[in-house]
Amino acid sequence: MKNIGIFYGSLTGNTESAAKQIQKELGADVAKIFDTASAKASDIEQFSNLIFASSTWNDGDMEEDFEDFLPEISSADLKGKKVAIFGCGDQDSYPDTFVDAIGEIYEAIKEKGCDIVGMVPTDGYDFEESKAVVDEKFVGLPLDEENQGNLTGDRIKTWVNQLKTEFD
Ligand SMILES: Cc1cc2nc3c(=O)[nH]c(=O)nc-3n(C[C@H](O)[C@H](O)[C@H](O)COP(=O)(O)O)c2cc1C
Repeated sequence: MKNIGIFYGSLTGNTESAAKQIQKELGADVAKIFDTASAKASDIEQFSNLIFASSTWNDGDMEEDFEDFLPEISSADLKGKKVAIFGCGDQDSYPDTFVDAIGEIYEAIKEKGCDIVGMVPTDGYDFEESKAVVDEKFVGLPLDEENQGNLTGDRIKTWVNQLKTEFD
């Protein structure tokens, strides 16, 4: 597998902790991790495979650092890269905007010539609406520490195995 850059935005640490678990599963020798509070477009461009991650806040918004990082993503050349997305949310308290940030990231990059991988079935989640669902699948991995924290470890392992076949 070619090199992987994980770029996350996290307010209370849940997405950060998941990013570290994902890095560990992929192997710290191939996967490097960046907090979007300080990362730049040039950091993005050095990787063949990318993972973008943001939690969802305020009824459907991206996490603030990730939102501020969007111009860096816009200015980066993503052509030919493989990109996967994940994020933390709370399906019980926010069933109408569950992990919307995943869907917003998807919208922001889908016309940039990259290949978006890591789609996840909606089975096992209980919510009403989500911008992260496109063609009946999540366009990235939703994690829910508030209600399904016991599933996070297995969900990450399964998703990373999928990425190992879908990344370059
Ligand atoms: C005020 C507030 C608003 C939230 N809004 C949403 C939301 O719209 N959709 C969602 O899925 N989760 C929402 N959440 C849940 C967070 O996304 C969840 O706690 C997540 O694990 C935080 O991840 P982080 O620590 O990486 O920022 C909200 C939480 C709070 C406290």
